Amino acid sequence: MSLRTFIFGLAASFGVAWLFIIVVPFIKMRNLEPIQLNEATDGTTGIFYPKRTGRITNGALVYAENGCYLCHSQLIRPTYAGNDLYRSDWGGLKADPDRGDTRRETNVYDFSGEKFAQIGVSRMGPDLSNVGLRVSANYATGGDPAKWFYNHLYNPRQDPKLWKSTCPPFRFMFSERLITGNPSNDAIAIVDDGKKEIVPDSDAQALVSYLLSLKKDQAVPAVLNFAPPKNKG
Ligand code: HEC
Repeated sequence: MSLRTFIFGLAASFGVAWLFIIVVPFIKMRNLEPIQLNEATDGTTGIFYPKRTGRITNGALVYAENGCYLCHSQLIRPTYAGNDLYRSDWGGLKADPDRGDTRRETNVYDFSGEKFAQIGVSRMGPDLSNVGLRVSANYATGGDPAKWFYNHLYNPRQDPKLWKSTCPPFRFMFSERLITGNPSNDAIAIVDDGKKEIVPDSDAQALVSYLLSLKKDQAVPAVLNFAPPKNKG
């Protein structure tokens, strides 16, 4: 084999993969076309635009900085590639009080407002693409979902059932401060015989606002709605 063939072969084997795994998806996803809603399948007309509220940009940064993506995915895979859609409340709620079963696969619009789609590296912990809704509906019933998140970040082993949780505590995102007057609304604990309170810092607030924005609660156009077949699961 001549050196020329070798170099050409090397460039082709890495180049083709780079083109199709990096360049083509990048170009396609950078310029997302608005989706036209279809009267027949969506029951309405107009343009679909993803709704998301919260401190998404800086919350996503805190999420990235603290390596949450190392253990948590944000990707509900198609059923041919895994059983994510059938895991309890991962891809939407199985029994949404208003809309019934809202589970569906992830689509690119789910990452709107984020610089990177943090699909994750491994799945040590549960998928977080619907964690905002899951926590509000299942864990923090009646309570404040933001408080649930603060407590989890402060001490993931607080719940006796999760005494072995390997989710790291992120206590450096909280401060202990002296109570003057009444305790603050977002205090997660009162310590030191009622003299001090533990409150989330701005990083924890941004992160929790971001986690709360991870909700699969919006109806998406039929062309994007890869939901499980209604007769199964
Ligand atoms: C070392 C791996 C690891 C890292 C890093 C990690 N987690 Fe976790 N996480 C887990 C595991 C394992 C669980 C499941 C046990 C539990 O619920 O505590 C979990 C559970 C959770 C849950 C509860 C989800 C549910 O539906 O019950 C949330 C929310 C969460 N993690 C948020 C985070 C955030 C935010 C970060 C980054 C600041 C993070 N985790 C970093 C491993 C990790």
